[in-house]
Amino acid sequence: MDKMTSTEPRVVGFPLRTPGEPFPPPRYEEYRRDTGLVLSYLPNGNKVWLVTRHEDVRAVLTNRKISSNPDHRGFPNISDTMGVPRQEQIPGWFVGLDSPEHDRFRKALIPEFTVRRVREMRPAIERTVEERIDAMLAAGNSADLVADFALPVPSLVISTLLGVPPVDRDFFESRTRTLVAIRSSTDQQRDTATKELLRYINRLVAIKEKWPGDDLISRLLATGTLHSQELSGVLMLLLIAGHETTANNIALGVVTLLLNPEWIGDDRAVEETLRFHSVADLVSLRVAVEDVEISGQLVRAGEGIIPLVAAANHDTDAFECPHRFDPARTERHHVAFGYGVHQCLGQNLVRVEMEIAYRKLFERIPDLQLAVPVEELPLKYDGVLCGLHELPVRW
Ligand code: HEM
Repeated sequence: MDKMTSTEPRVVGFPLRTPGEPFPPPRYEEYRRDTGLVLSYLPNGNKVWLVTRHEDVRAVLTNRKISSNPDHRGFPNISDTMGVPRQEQIPGWFVGLDSPEHDRFRKALIPEFTVRRVREMRPAIERTVEERIDAMLAAGNSADLVADFALPVPSLVISTLLGVPPVDRDFFESRTRTLVAIRSSTDQQRDTATKELLRYINRLVAIKEKWPGDDLISRLLATGTLHSQELSGVLMLLLIAGHETTANNIALGVVTLLLNPEWIGDDRAVEETLRFHSVADLVSLRVAVEDVEISGQLVRAGEGIIPLVAAANHDTDAFECPHRFDPARTERHHVAFGYGVHQCLGQNLVRVEMEIAYRKLFERIPDLQLAVPVEELPLKYDGVLCGLHELPVRW
């Protein structure tokens, strides 16, 4: 139960989502209005500050006294709480590094995710999306859009990006799916899938070292800035960071478009879907490494901080009528991809992927509709990311 006094910070329970409740939780609005920062405790007893105002979220994500490194005492490691295997110990897991170590990885990766590079990937993305739609149409007049479309598309796109040979794509797709299927896979299965993927990626790097091709791995090897173990960690990060995030946005976006059909065919829906759903609400994890003041609240060195991007993206001080899905809105400063030096590296790729996914899906299946009432869609409350376990559709 929440408690608050005028002198003490408000203390709220964790996890933050309750089954049956809409997302973002209406309580976020109260937290934002009251104090901005609220205090919570992870099941391991670690203290964590939750940041809810748009302005404060951006301030946290650009403050050098606040670190992304999970090795620091007090880091809010929520993986254990949310049923996800920990990968942070893998060398090359640069989302968990601070400057200057982080800069080396970021600099090496940026050329692979420019608008131009992503534009070159368009035909491959279009092909992947078309093939998935062909398979759904061939299978009948209904589908689970999560399993049959939203999950495989990003996984196949990433495997193309990494230069995974076509014969291995099924292996790749099935193992990445196990990682995100928190409902139907056990901790043990997810752990095994992680190990298998890492082994596969190590082998792939060794092959590209001997026989370079025109792909991301070969180009990164050619820069000579990352050693092969680091490179494997980087590839695992790309794989994990870009899979379920994109899949959840695609699935939730389709539902939103079905509920707001006047926006079908308008590419502005992509950006608004990202803001509106803010699936990566619990992704940016931080810890104070020095005492720091946020919104008038003293946060001590060694205390965890989670800037809640969904709360920030629904802040009425930053967005007009934030709870309205309005692709025509002109505010473009949402933080669905984070902010500052760790801002999502894959954002150009995601935008193109979502645009192609929505456009092709509604072009090829114009009478697409939900097969169950919207209130019965199984929302994911038990993972780090918000999304849907299933999306039954028919046409
Ligand atoms: C809609 C889909 C996506 C969302 C909502 C999303 C969200 C985010 C967020 C919030 C962060 C910041 C993490 C932090 O502050 O600690 C981040 C970082 C990152 N994302 Fe994404 N992401 C998406 C898709 C992708 C894709 C497709 C890729 C690559 C293939 C990718 C690669 C990365 C990487 C490598 C980082 C770490 C960047 C760094 O530390 O410098 N993401 N993402």
